[in-house]
Amino acid sequence: MSKVTVVGAGKYGSTTAQRVAEMDVVDEVVLTDIVEGLPEGLALDMNQASSIEGFRTNVVGQSDGYDKTAGSDVVVITAGLPRKPGMSRMDLLEVNAKIVGEVSRNIAAASPDAVIIVVSNPLDEMTALCQQVTGFPHARVMGQAGMLDTARFKTFLGWEFGVPATDVEAMTLGSHGDTMVPVPSLVKVGGKALSEVASAEQIERLVQRTRDGGAEVVALLKTGSAYYAPSSAAAAMVKAVVTDSGAQMPVCAWVDGEYGISGVYLGVPATLGRGGVTRIVELDLTDAELAHLREAAEAVRAKQADVAGLV
Ligand code: NAI
Ligand code: 2OP
Repeated sequence: MSKVTVVGAGKYGSTTAQRVAEMDVVDEVVLTDIVEGLPEGLALDMNQASSIEGFRTNVVGQSDGYDKTAGSDVVVITAGLPRKPGMSRMDLLEVNAKIVGEVSRNIAAASPDAVIIVVSNPLDEMTALCQQVTGFPHARVMGQAGMLDTARFKTFLGWEFGVPATDVEAMTLGSHGDTMVPVPSLVKVGGKALSEVASAEQIERLVQRTRDGGAEVVALLKTGSAYYAPSSAAAAMVKAVVTDSGAQMPVCAWVDGEYGISGVYLGVPATLGRGGVTRIVELDLTDAELAHLREAAEAVRAKQADVAGLV
């Protein structure tokens, strides 16, 4: 039986569970939280949509432990606080480290062979923490950020140039924060290179809006952060792993030599399959883009090294 667990039944977790169930690619989705009744109630509600949406995946909720999650193939960690307006993702470091540390220990015990996808913020540090606490091979612990940041970049590019986001090719690398690296040289809009259709000012404005994409939503919502596009991103990663598709996508992965960078979790393109990250893909970047990627690696390296001390 194939099983996906989503830890944290808040906005991000519940929409991820729903999207994965509706994809109908696994037998069971287990949704967990520490709030009594919350995951059970949401699971009941989701199951009642199955005959309308046409999925056979069974959704199970649990708020009193991890036994129902046992033997999961994939676990998505969304537990933790989201940002409030004016807060940076880094302001969540200490409180979410305690939560992600505890959740990671429980997952490792219940599902020792799982692939883990971390989404709790600050993303790059929580991904590193999860790997350190579980002791899982690096390939089986990754973070979700690049799929979301790339989707935002595509949306803004599509609006700017009057084409659907689905007709835009783009990629963001680096960290899920100030050192995010949207990559203009890889952008194609309606089949044309970005440099053919955009001025330098337009490119810089769209890149900056992408870097600020999460904060823009937080400022509007006032309480909580984005979850529709984020859950689409996590669900796509889950699907690539459980179906062993080999799909290439930007994820927060352990980089060990690629791009001249070693020993750090960083947003890079990778292929995903049953083993988790099956290969890091080295794209041709401009010298400036490569320099930005290396700066991003150095910006997150120190905090990742220290993070286990917060648990
Ligand atoms: P939320 O507040 O709606 O849900 C968080 C849930 O975690 C709550 O239901 C809470 O009870 C639960 N929780 C807390 N401690 C727990 C524990 N020990 N075990 C199990 N569950 C626990 O927040 P939301 O919007 O779902 O966001 C979740 C996290 O995802 C935040 O840290 C947020 O910053 C992050 N995020 C990351 C993104 C990314 O691209 N990586 C994008 C959007 C959000
Ligand atoms: C986002 O980018 C807050 O990380 C979250 O929406």
